[in-house]
Amino acid sequence: MEQGHGVSRPVTLERPVPLVDLELGHQVLADDLRAAFERVLASSSFVGGREVEHLEEVLAELVGAPHVVAVGSGTVALHLALFAAGVGPGDEVILPPNTFFATAEAVVAAGAMPVLADVDPYTALLDPEAVEAAVTPRTAAIAAVDLYGQPFDADRFRAIADRHGLFLLEDAAQALGGAWHERPAGSLGDAAGFSFYPGKNLGALGDGGAVTTADAGLARRVRLLRSHGEEPRGVHLVSGFCERLDELQAAFLTAKLPHFQVAQAERRRGVSRYRQRLAGVEEVDLVKTAEGARHAYHLLVARVPRRNAVLTHLHTAGVGASVHYPTPIHLQPACPHLGGKGTHPHAEALADSVLSLPLFPGITDALVDRCADALGTAIETTR
Ligand SMILES: Cc1ncc(COP(=O)(O)O)c(C=O)c1O
Repeated sequence: MEQGHGVSRPVTLERPVPLVDLELGHQVLADDLRAAFERVLASSSFVGGREVEHLEEVLAELVGAPHVVAVGSGTVALHLALFAAGVGPGDEVILPPNTFFATAEAVVAAGAMPVLADVDPYTALLDPEAVEAAVTPRTAAIAAVDLYGQPFDADRFRAIADRHGLFLLEDAAQALGGAWHERPAGSLGDAAGFSFYPGKNLGALGDGGAVTTADAGLARRVRLLRSHGEEPRGVHLVSGFCERLDELQAAFLTAKLPHFQVAQAERRRGVSRYRQRLAGVEEVDLVKTAEGARHAYHLLVARVPRRNAVLTHLHTAGVGASVHYPTPIHLQPACPHLGGKGTHPHAEALADSVLSLPLFPGITDALVDRCADALGTAIETTR
């Protein structure tokens, strides 16, 4: 029987192991989610109500940020945070090449120019020295990413931002539950953006996101921007967007939050098991966690040789491994102006070698063993 979350489901070794088992998580929460739906239906308040306010209050406590503004997605959270900070046309924003495309999109949506800086090959996180080297008189902000759920070195990035007078945006889309020296992800920059995309550690039943910040003025501007710049009703102070989180998604997220710490503990348990099983497997290196970082383990990522052949082998063995991300931002068709091949060698080497292993709350030792063993076999047979 499978462990975790108290759910019983027969394990058949034939059943493929998904990268993320959303179905398992939602079985456990189904009654709470139905109750949340019924509550919102009964209220007939679907946009801009108490559910969103309540979620914002709970998240503020969890993240240790005085202000939380729930919005339509993680991409919008990053975009509105930059926009509200006054980052726009003529400005440059430094970000890593190995992130989900949305980090760059948010910069472009704000009207600014993305500038890429290479990453540390071991942690896969933005390299502070590469960032310093990329600063120009036009640089207005750094968008540092808590990649895979690992928070960046907030002390070093704060110092760089302060030295150059830059806005520090934390892309915490993957990092709810992480921390840097006990300071929670979401509180590490001047503002942060979270994503509640369904596969995230805290996922909605649709899209969602939030901006977190200690800056009351910035929070107020994001609040205005998410809802047509309107305050009070009928008065549009600025031209904004229609990017609110709706009441249903807020209610679903609130229903999931009491289970969040247990789910995180189950992720950590899965990771420890992987570490044990992979310790003796040659040529497999888990992406390093820096001292001082508490990893949220949105993804467990290894560097492997012959990655594409290994991935094919794993899929044949029913292991739903994946790649985050196979193409760095500067090699995407949409970004021919951001540098060609060879511009950011560490990010490019990572793109060719990273492999994300199945990991989700409720993953059993048996499933981890199966995935780890399949990885060992794949490495051997592709040698
Ligand atoms: C690092 C990173 N940034 C931004 C985003 C954008 O979030 P969303 O998909 O909610 O717009 C995501 C998630 O997909 C992400 O992983």
